[in-house]
Formats: sequence, C-alpha cells, structure tokens
Amino acid sequence: MKISLAPLQGYTDWVFRQAYQKHIGGIDQFYTPFLVLQNDGGIKTAHKREVEPFEEGSKDLVPQFLCGSTEEFKYFETYFSELNYCEMNWNMGCPYPMVTKKGKGSGLLPHPEKVEEILANAYQNKINLTVKLRLGLLDDQDVDSILPILKDHGIVQVIVHPRIGKQLYKGKPNLSRFGDLYEKFGNYLAYNGDICTFHDYKNVMDSFSDLNHVMIGRGILQDYWLPKRIKGIEIPAPHERKDKLMAMHDEIFQLYGSYLQGETQIMQKMKPFWEYFSMHFENEKKVYKAIKKSLGIKKYEQAVDFAFAQKLKKE
Ligand SMILES: Cc1cc2nc3c(=O)[nH]c(=O)nc-3n(C[C@H](O)[C@H](O)[C@H](O)COP(=O)(O)O)c2cc1C
Repeated sequence: MKISLAPLQGYTDWVFRQAYQKHIGGIDQFYTPFLVLQNDGGIKTAHKREVEPFEEGSKDLVPQFLCGSTEEFKYFETYFSELNYCEMNWNMGCPYPMVTKKGKGSGLLPHPEKVEEILANAYQNKINLTVKLRLGLLDDQDVDSILPILKDHGIVQVIVHPRIGKQLYKGKPNLSRFGDLYEKFGNYLAYNGDICTFHDYKNVMDSFSDLNHVMIGRGILQDYWLPKRIKGIEIPAPHERKDKLMAMHDEIFQLYGSYLQGETQIMQKMKPFWEYFSMHFENEKKVYKAIKKSLGIKKYEQAVDFAFAQKLKKE
C-alpha cells in the first residue's frame, strides 16, 4: 500500500515535507501544492522553491500543476522533465471559482473535449503523468467521460477525491460513486478523501480491499503518526513523540527564519501551521488560541512553550 501526502496549499510546502521526512517518516510519496503560471508566463519564486531541488531530493516528490491550455501543459512538461522528475500531476480537482472560471482545476471536468485536445496536442510522454480529480464540477457524472480519455493517453494513475467541486469540502465523500468507478477501473484509481483515523482507513479498505494507493491530507496534519499506524509500524511513546513534535516545530521555524524577511512573514507561516499542529495536544483550542493571538516572535515563543507544557492527546 502506498501512502502519499495530499497537496495542501499553505500547509504541505517544502519546509513541512523536509521536516516531516527527517523527524517523523512513514509517507511513501509527496505531492507539491499546485504550481500555476503567472500572467507574465513565468512561475513565481515561492512556487519554484517547491520543485527546484533542495535537500528534499526528487525521487518521492511529485510536482503538481494547474493548467487549462496546451501552451501551459507544454511549459510544465518541459520544466519538470528538465528538473528530472519521474512523474508530474495535473490538478483537475481544485474547486475554487477563481480557478474553475478559467477552465482549470475541476473547471475542466465538464469539458472532456478540452482535456482530449490538451493531451493530444501537448503531452510528449517525457515524464509520467498522473491526474488528481473530483467526480465533477456540478455533476458527479462528469468523471465518466474524463477517465477513458486519460487512460487512452497513457496517464498512469488517477487519484479520485469523490466529491464535486461545488461541494468544496462539505458533505461526505461519495463512496458509492467511487465504487462504480473502481469496479470499472480497479487500481488505475487511487483514493483520497477524509481519511483522518485508522478507523476511516479501515472503512475504505473494507469496501475496496485491493486499493494500492491512498492519498491523505488533513488526517496526516492532525496526526503525524497516521501513516505508521496504518502500516502497523510501532509508534513512539508519548514523551518521545513530544520530542519529535518539538524537533519538527523547531526545524520548520528555523527554516522559515532562514529565508523569509522579518517577523511578520515568519508569523504568517507559523500561525496556519498550528491550525493542525495544535490538534496533537490536549487543550488544543487553548493552544491554538495562544499561538494565534501572540504578537511578535517573543510572544510566539512563549505560546509555543505553553503548548509544549500540555500533554499530548491520548491515543
Ligand atoms: C487548505 C487546502 C489546500 C489544498 N490545496 C490543494 C492543492 O494545492 N492541490 C490539490 O490537488 N489539492 C489541494 N487540496 C485538496 C487536498 O489535496 C485533498 O484532496 C483534500 O483535502 C481531501 O483529502 P483529505 O480529506 O485527506 O484532506 C487542498 C485542500 C485544502 C483543505
């Protein structure tokens, strides 16, 4: 079973991924949050940092891109293949109107002819291609016309998040629709959505026991040891876990400090990080509140001390 980390813009950046691999481990593959071309046709520096090799190494890292035209597709295939990636991932799932209105993300799903045109005219097979998608934009049947096109054009795997774009993250993943697709396409499909505990994982596996790839996002951010729990790897004792969480935090704090300018920018990264990180602690609400209201690095560090004085949540 391959467990991959879902891309979460603003959370699973290179700093997070690097620290996670060093201090926690258990994830087999990482996906970058999406890269997108700017109006001037280039890629912004923050996005370049995600893919241009750092210590992270690129073997287990899959860069993801948003695109709605042959030109954009060609740009990304050339860019990623020149950086020697083995695989790139096309985002057809992003639900936000700013993206879908431009015919990107899940905005592509009602337009199979567009997907076909882009693949036929742009894809040169320089690099393996995978796709991450939803069931549709407004209609959960959109995907039925898209999957055969992807298969015909040599896309190696499709990761399905079984919601429609319009839902954003509301409601439950539609396992029954995923089941229809899985019956037809089997392990050509990977599963993603709402696996937050071992129990959730088991529920999915009870229905689709042959799955060989699940992608997990928020569940891992809430419980860094979820991949190891799933794989049956021993989890460190609470005091050791706390040490690892502290090492993880310190590394992230230090890495942001190494290239960001000024306290404000660093705080803009650290505060969202605690939205999920605080969930490892008892009194998670108090912990997150203390971090959120801290002004400046000194106060922030006091709030961090307060957090680490709490017990970790019980198993
Ligand atoms: C804050 C946030 C940012 C996200 N950014 C991306 C992204 O850059 N690319 C992408 O394909 N999906 C993105 N997603 C969707 C996740 O990858 C994933 O499909 C979704 O969270 C469901 O999986 P989960 O329940 O395991 O988190 C994002 C989701 C959230 C909540």
